[in-house]
Amino acid sequence: MKNKWVWAMIFLLAAVLGVIVSLWSHRNDFDGRELPSGAANMRTYHYPAQWSKQLKGRKDVGRIVFRSYCITCHGRTPKIPLSAPRIGDRRVWSGLERLGIDKLLAMTIQGVAAMPARGGCFECSDDQLKSAIQYMIKAR
Ligand code: HEC
Repeated sequence: MKNKWVWAMIFLLAAVLGVIVSLWSHRNDFDGRELPSGAANMRTYHYPAQWSKQLKGRKDVGRIVFRSYCITCHGRTPKIPLSAPRIGDRRVWSGLERLGIDKLLAMTIQGVAAMPARGGCFECSDDQLKSAIQYMIKAR
């Protein structure tokens, strides 16, 4: 009988420790679509189309789309290292800027090399993608 409780306690301790270690090691993980402030409503999180609708008319659309999708590969320390042009890389982005926004948008919609079509944001409108590109171009 006593033995059983000892094992139960050991099991419980190990489980709690496991949760703590896992939370700690994921503390800097990017945790998905960013909810627009003010419209913060977790219910929209799993309804991407609603999420995209909430961005209408906002001035920081580019930043939100970037932080919710593009940052995975285009961030300063990308979670997926595919050598995508990084935000803040002045040299690369000024070169890309010369291609013109229409060309960059067309490439984004189509997908380039390892980049999925629409940069992975299938629910984003063309204008929202364009804002995200402009955000990356300007953020230097
Ligand atoms: C899964 C990773 C990934 C994601 C997510 C991603 N990109 Fe990219 N992107 C890339 C890679 C890799 C390249 C470089 C492609 C090449 O030229 O080889 C690239 C290139 C680009 C370029 C420059 C085109 C060029 O010729 O290099 C633009 C503009 C761009 N991405 C926009 C976006 C936007 C906007 C988003 C978010 C909506 C996004 N990307 C999300 C991987 C990604």
